[in-house]
Amino acid sequence: METADKENPVISKVEEKDASSVVAVAGHPLHAMMVHFPIALVFSTLGADIMYWWGADAFWLRVGLWTTGIAFFSAIAAGLAGSAELFLVPGIRARVASWAHAIAGMSLIAVCGANWGGRFFLQIEVLPHGLLLTALACVLTGLAGWHGGKLIFDHGIGLMVSPKD
Ligand code: HEM
Repeated sequence: METADKENPVISKVEEKDASSVVAVAGHPLHAMMVHFPIALVFSTLGADIMYWWGADAFWLRVGLWTTGIAFFSAIAAGLAGSAELFLVPGIRARVASWAHAIAGMSLIAVCGANWGGRFFLQIEVLPHGLLLTALACVLTGLAGWHGGKLIFDHGIGLMVSPKD
């Protein structure tokens, strides 16, 4: 029996469009390879900020500055690869979920930029402002990461099925 979704002509039209990854190296989608860096470094910054709160050792300020900076620039790089997929692939562009994920990703990049730029250019206090920005970045990382996973596993977006499969 046909499902209600299959009978919906709008959904059928979206499903007809190809949603395979085009920004890839040797069959490996680039965005999926790059997102691990901001994810790991945002949570490393949380660790560094908590260590600074706990022991007031200035070493952790320097660690936090580096981790939040690399999180910001690696998130920009990942965002560029993700945006290329979004603009170039008709089946990705046509799905509302892809745009919702892009908004979560852009919000994360903005907060990482504020966190690193604030520390580097404005010398904001890590306690509490830096730590609060890091906490917000962790929440947004969770949202963007979880939603990115949904794009792959629920919507089948950005896959590269090998001819061997
Ligand atoms: C402008 C920002 C972004 C755009 C337009 C974007 C777009 C996309 C797209 C189109 C996909 C589907 C897979 C593909 O086609 O490669 C995806 C997957 C994913 N994205 Fe993003 N993304 C952005 C930023 C981010 C950021 C900053 C993160 C970090 C948390 C992230 C985490 C993920 C994850 C974890 C997946 C699933 C990858 C997998 O499991 O293979 N995205 N994204």
